[in-house]
Amino acid sequence: MSVPIPQPPTIPFLGNVLAIDKELPLGSFGLLAKQYGEIYQLNLLGRIVYFVNSAELVRELSDDKKFQKIVPGSLNEVRSLAGDGLFTAHADEPNWAIAHRLLMPAFGTANIRNMWDDMKDICSQLILKWSRFGPDYVISPTDDFTRLTLDTIALCSMNYRFNSFYSETLPPFCEAMTDFLKECNARANRPSIVQALMTSTTAKWEADRKLMIDVSSEIVKHRRHHPIEKKDLLNTMLYGRDPKTGQGLDDDAITKNVSGDSSSHVLSGHETTSGLLSFATYHLLKNPECLIRLRKEVDDVTQGNPITLEHLAKMPYLNAVLREAIRLNPTAAVRAVVALEDCVLAGRYSVKKGQGFAINNHEAHHDHKVWGEDADEFKPERMLDGKFEAMPPESWQPFGFGMRACIGRPFAWQEAQLVLASIIQTFDLCFNNPGYTLEIKQALTLKPKDFYIRATLRSDAAHLLSTPSSSLLAPKAAGQPAKAQVEAEADDGTPKPKMYVLYGSNTGTSESFAQRIASDASSHGFKATIGTMDQSTGRVFTDGPVVIITASFEGDPADNAAQAVQWLEQGASDAEFNGLKYAVFGCGNRDWVRTYQRIPTLVDEVLEKKGGTRLLPRGEGDAAGSSFFEDFDAWEAEMWSVLTKEYNTVSKKVEETLTVETTKSGTTRASELRQPDTRLGTVTQNRVLTKPSASGIKRHLEFALPEGVSFRAGDYLAILPVNPPELVKRAIAHFGLSPEEEVTLSSSSPSTLPLNRPINIQSLMSGYVELSQPASTKDLQVLSTLTDDAATKSTLEGLLGDYKASVLTKRISVLDILEAHKDIKVSLSTFLRLLPPMRIRQYSISSSPLADPQHATLTVSIVEGAPVPGHRDVPFLGVASNYLARLQPGERVQLMVKPSGTQFHPPSDLSTPILMFCAGSGLAPMRGFIQERAKQKESGREVGPMYLFFGCRSPEEDYLYSEDDLAEWVKNGVVDVRPAFSRASEKSEGCKYVQDRIWHDREDVMKAYNEGARFYVCGSRKVATGVQKVCIDMLKEAEKLDDEEAHRIWEKVEQERGASDIFE
Ligand SMILES: Cc1cc2nc3c(=O)[nH]c(=O)nc-3n(C[C@H](O)[C@H](O)[C@H](O)COP(=O)(O)OP(=O)(O)OC[C@H]3O[C@@H](n4cnc5c(N)ncnc54)[C@H](O)[C@@H]3O)c2cc1C
Ligand code: HEM
Ligand SMILES: Cc1cc2nc3c(=O)[nH]c(=O)nc-3n(C[C@H](O)[C@H](O)[C@H](O)COP(=O)(O)O)c2cc1C
Repeated sequence: MSVPIPQPPTIPFLGNVLAIDKELPLGSFGLLAKQYGEIYQLNLLGRIVYFVNSAELVRELSDDKKFQKIVPGSLNEVRSLAGDGLFTAHADEPNWAIAHRLLMPAFGTANIRNMWDDMKDICSQLILKWSRFGPDYVISPTDDFTRLTLDTIALCSMNYRFNSFYSETLPPFCEAMTDFLKECNARANRPSIVQALMTSTTAKWEADRKLMIDVSSEIVKHRRHHPIEKKDLLNTMLYGRDPKTGQGLDDDAITKNVSGDSSSHVLSGHETTSGLLSFATYHLLKNPECLIRLRKEVDDVTQGNPITLEHLAKMPYLNAVLREAIRLNPTAAVRAVVALEDCVLAGRYSVKKGQGFAINNHEAHHDHKVWGEDADEFKPERMLDGKFEAMPPESWQPFGFGMRACIGRPFAWQEAQLVLASIIQTFDLCFNNPGYTLEIKQALTLKPKDFYIRATLRSDAAHLLSTPSSSLLAPKAAGQPAKAQVEAEADDGTPKPKMYVLYGSNTGTSESFAQRIASDASSHGFKATIGTMDQSTGRVFTDGPVVIITASFEGDPADNAAQAVQWLEQGASDAEFNGLKYAVFGCGNRDWVRTYQRIPTLVDEVLEKKGGTRLLPRGEGDAAGSSFFEDFDAWEAEMWSVLTKEYNTVSKKVEETLTVETTKSGTTRASELRQPDTRLGTVTQNRVLTKPSASGIKRHLEFALPEGVSFRAGDYLAILPVNPPELVKRAIAHFGLSPEEEVTLSSSSPSTLPLNRPINIQSLMSGYVELSQPASTKDLQVLSTLTDDAATKSTLEGLLGDYKASVLTKRISVLDILEAHKDIKVSLSTFLRLLPPMRIRQYSISSSPLADPQHATLTVSIVEGAPVPGHRDVPFLGVASNYLARLQPGERVQLMVKPSGTQFHPPSDLSTPILMFCAGSGLAPMRGFIQERAKQKESGREVGPMYLFFGCRSPEEDYLYSEDDLAEWVKNGVVDVRPAFSRASEKSEGCKYVQDRIWHDREDVMKAYNEGARFYVCGSRKVATGVQKVCIDMLKEAEKLDDEEAHRIWEKVEQERGASDIFE
């Protein structure tokens, strides 16, 4: 029986056109594939197109006898430029056959080998540019690879030099082409009546087309007047004869083909190759173990010599990296074919002759059935040792298929190999924003969006500069050259010993600790340089101590330490760190039982094992514990005492290295917008979820995401907040300032404060420092030196003596203390130096992109604590949650999507049962998962059962979403909700907490478990521990296991099919 092909709902005249994102059609095709599965149909302005997404169906369509290439809408628009050129020709056009036979040999392997010197010529221009600009220069790889591939194809095939590297902007030809292609895409999906009204857009499109034709004609004309003896593409087109018919391309065809086709070659070839290089660079930076393996291969094969063609043949890993990069991101992702006869596809879908198909190779390349559960991961190893060759036929087809497959493949491959190997041989690379995750931009081909890197010559001397832990904290918009931070200078004429402070940090804590050490260095007689661990990859500092502050994330390093850790583990030799003196402090959290302090421990041990000298035992702080900051302070004090002895330096009392100069008074009202960052989301909804009687407030927020930003169910939104206005007011009032007053800060040591430019006090206090962080023990000691009042000194001593209960638990901040003790004479600069920099906060996204890819929602608990008599008369307000609570629709927020761990997403197999355990706002990611399956079910797909075990107080207070979408999803049979009401257990089968409900319903839970369910836990540590315990108890009971055995099995199950998100 024929299975109907699903289709999203249509609207009159337009059909499904509005379901396609104008900027990123591929993104929409992907989401539709997730929703509808292996095949769906779209009505594109009256044309019905079947989109196929699975490797199995792509294989069926890869049959030249039954299916033939057609020129789809967007390429049809390109025909206005390229006519019946090779790339854009219809199957039955004679000029295609002639051009095909003529040009194939020009792109044969032997000819491509002859192009080696020209390829190297252009490649060396890129290498020179990156070397000369140096490590501070922010590189846009996509732009530079476009320059490179355009210049290479023009030189190799037409002996023409665009000289793109000698101009700041891309050549006008490139810009015209990008705009032209983008508009071709848009035109294909625009009704003709709308098109007719868009006169200025059409005029621009025509102008772009004319510019490209003019340039191409100029090249041809030049060759006619200056003929050369070279068997290049242009000569082949001008003078070659079709071996079959003896015909050349007639005059008209030559002009059209050459002018059009030179562009069409350029467009098919240079854009896609540039994209391949950009994606490969991105994946290598995201997967440092692959980068290191590739570097080793390049070094072993070339031994530092210039790269030759023979070298390339000996680099299988390089080949694998490129294959894997273009599998994950095929740069020409969709091709179109038409059925030549009636048929039944894969034995289940009836297809009529003439039916058009869009083959979505991006989806097929991610098909879990063929590539495995890790299909979305970058693993070049899967392309090695015969594994690539053993894949089912047509699973990998980035270069198309059959008669109309790419003829430029050997050219593109040789060029990409040469360029990637040359870059790896010459540079250390790092992301400009360590937290960057791939976003894609689409014209006719695909490239990474807003992707910026920096490159340091591998033989270069050490060069560090401070880059923040998150792009949200970046001091400037990406794309502009980074400015090195001011380094600590010797202030008394005597040379100070150097020291290096390195950090690996995602959310800013380790970074702020490192910052503190770097700022304090000069008062202990050192000249500090600060930077991320990744910036020190491959370097060994022996001219001063190295202090490393680093964290772990699910046992892995922070984004800006990944390369360094990989190098320590695998790249560094056994005696690599001889002469290095170092100290490590680890930030961690005991909630991650198995991987607590994994990275700091590893770094500390490897450095010693490979020759380094440990200056003092590794310090550790537990973010979940009560003495996190105190432990750091104690370790720092110990570290300075060891360092000053070791290096014979002298510690002085607190040194004012930060100066504040008031430059302007009371004029600037508008608070300064801190970043001209394009990553600004817009609030579209903000409503209370809890009932008025609830003790805590929870809210639902929705954001319109910045253009091009995408997410998966389970990901996080990182938010850069500002301090609550009442808190800012208090701080400003304490220093007797007016909010509009402007100051200019300058510092002799590295700082995350905005330096050397006027900024008003309001902006400074709102956005740059954490005003309500509890005072650290060190802060208390400093404050004690700044008062002469004996009573105050004694109070401060009391706080120090009972730090945890009196300061930490009550969250007594420096500001609270200053307000309560006016006799403490602290300057604004000291106050600013005592405060940690503003941190980003992460929130689980509580929606699915299948419901709306442009909007993401959050489910947020608003943190508010009681006043503390004698210390703080006002309530404590959590910074980010209260910032979010007050946002109004229309307001803009600095945010970014952060991907969650690979496990914390709905399973790719829709039939897998899902068990979700959560409490409070821990419901957030679960709501996204349920919404995703609801959408899939709505589209006619079979989905497995979902159970939601949800803990809250009572239906009258905080049973989140129970009256809107959750109720609907229950009604539609998508999810089975099992609440546990802690204050109304009589309404939840007598169960008070989630774990009680799980135990009560253990028959259902065990049934899902035995059917291969995946487990997700989200909420506080208490919830996670409770769930873990009850699951072990269930296992014990069901399988008759002893405690130890049950623990062992559960641990394995958790690793294989569990995932938890614990809110610290
Ligand atoms: C991976 C991840 C996902 C997360 N997802 C979500 C989510 O979906 N929804 C959500 O609401 N949160 C989520 N969080 C928590 C969120 O990131 C913030 O930590 C939380 O909103 C508090 O931030 P804040 O800036 O408002 O408070 P902060 O100013 O950072 O203060 C928080 C601190 O205040 C203290 N505190 C808490 N309550 C009180 C009180 N009553 N009195 C005194 N002190 C108190 C705690 O020690 C806490 O450390 C998530 C956290 C992580 C790590
Ligand atoms: C990584 C780089 C490249 C990729 C991913 C790529 C991909 C493709 C794909 C998928 C097709 C088939 C399109 C279809 O079926 O509609 C194709 C065709 C083509 N490509 Fe490429 N290409 C690349 C580089 C090049 C280069 C460098 C050139 C020229 C120098 C080139 C010239 C062509 C031509 C002329 C065709 C049309 C062939 C025909 O229809 O006979 N390509 N390419
Ligand atoms: C998602 C996530 C995973 C974590 N995984 C670990 C871990 O495996 N081991 C550990 O010791 N700490 C873990 N932590 C705790 C962090 O290391 C700790 O919060 C640290 O202070 C963060 O430092 P940073 O702010 O410099 O990034 C994790 C925290 C989060 C949010």
